[in-house]
Amino acid sequence: MILAPLRGVTIRCFREVFAEQIRAAGFTEAITPFVPAMRGYDPLKDRELRDQGSGMRVTPQFIGKDPEALRDCLERVKAAGYDTADLNCGCPFPMVRRKGRGSGILRTPDVLRAMLEVGCETMGPGKFSMKTRLGVDRTDELLKLMPMINEFPLRFLTVHARTARQMYEGRCDWKAAEAIENSAKVPVVRNGDLACIGASGYRSIQPVMVGRSFIRELGTRGDARELLERYIAASQTELCGDAPVLGRMKELLSYWKDLPAWKRRWHLVKLCRSVAELRSVI
Ligand SMILES: Cc1cc2nc3c(=O)[nH]c(=O)nc-3n(C[C@H](O)[C@H](O)[C@H](O)COP(=O)(O)O)c2cc1C
Repeated sequence: MILAPLRGVTIRCFREVFAEQIRAAGFTEAITPFVPAMRGYDPLKDRELRDQGSGMRVTPQFIGKDPEALRDCLERVKAAGYDTADLNCGCPFPMVRRKGRGSGILRTPDVLRAMLEVGCETMGPGKFSMKTRLGVDRTDELLKLMPMINEFPLRFLTVHARTARQMYEGRCDWKAAEAIENSAKVPVVRNGDLACIGASGYRSIQPVMVGRSFIRELGTRGDARELLERYIAASQTELCGDAPVLGRMKELLSYWKDLPAWKRRWHLVKLCRSVAELRSVI
């Protein structure tokens, strides 16, 4: 099971503080929230790629449409000790998509081909993966690209079984995802609304990627407040001032807001203006 990249949530600090819970849930790898693929990117200066002791494989994810910038980034992450990397071909936000990045890259097959070429060449066969959606507007767009995608020795292809248009809501289309699995030459990692193994008994020999259900489940733990307290403390050591720490905690707590233990607290959390206030309401 792979921990899904959630920008602002499954960040390095979170992966470190919750390392034990992440491992106990059955995750063996985390894909990082996306890093823009820009020339001159220095992974040694990016604290997001400095995981310490999480004991899991960490695969950096890049977003972009410039193959040479991607090559530059990949060469640098390789030199920094990472041997796998991922390409974000799924970000659904219109501002990103319309510029041909994220899910928008599905509409420019030549660019996608060039990015996959550079990715597989630089990281090596079986070391570069791609995370995407079923399509931008329709659920058969990725399927049409499969003959081209199949030309590349990808590590795996993660399919969030929605279109970009759906954003993060509405039903996943597992029939359409199955069609991808049937046509793919590389392993397909399913993603979208899947529960953790521990939570629902969901078991599969197929690799899966899980995000929000795991984050939500953390809030049901008896030690959730203690863990949150550790997350606050760890965040305070690396962020400057209360505002970014509060922002980070509110981002996590927004996943807990419908849980019985957090529903009432969430209303108070939203009003907090300082970390001291937050501590007093949690
Ligand atoms: C707040 C948020 C941030 C996300 N950030 C990323 C990201 O940086 N890269 C990426 O590939 N997907 C990103 N995703 C998508 C998730 O990785 C995942 O595909 C999606 O949430 C569906 O899986 P889930 O239902 O198990 O959470 C993000 C999703 C959310 C809700």
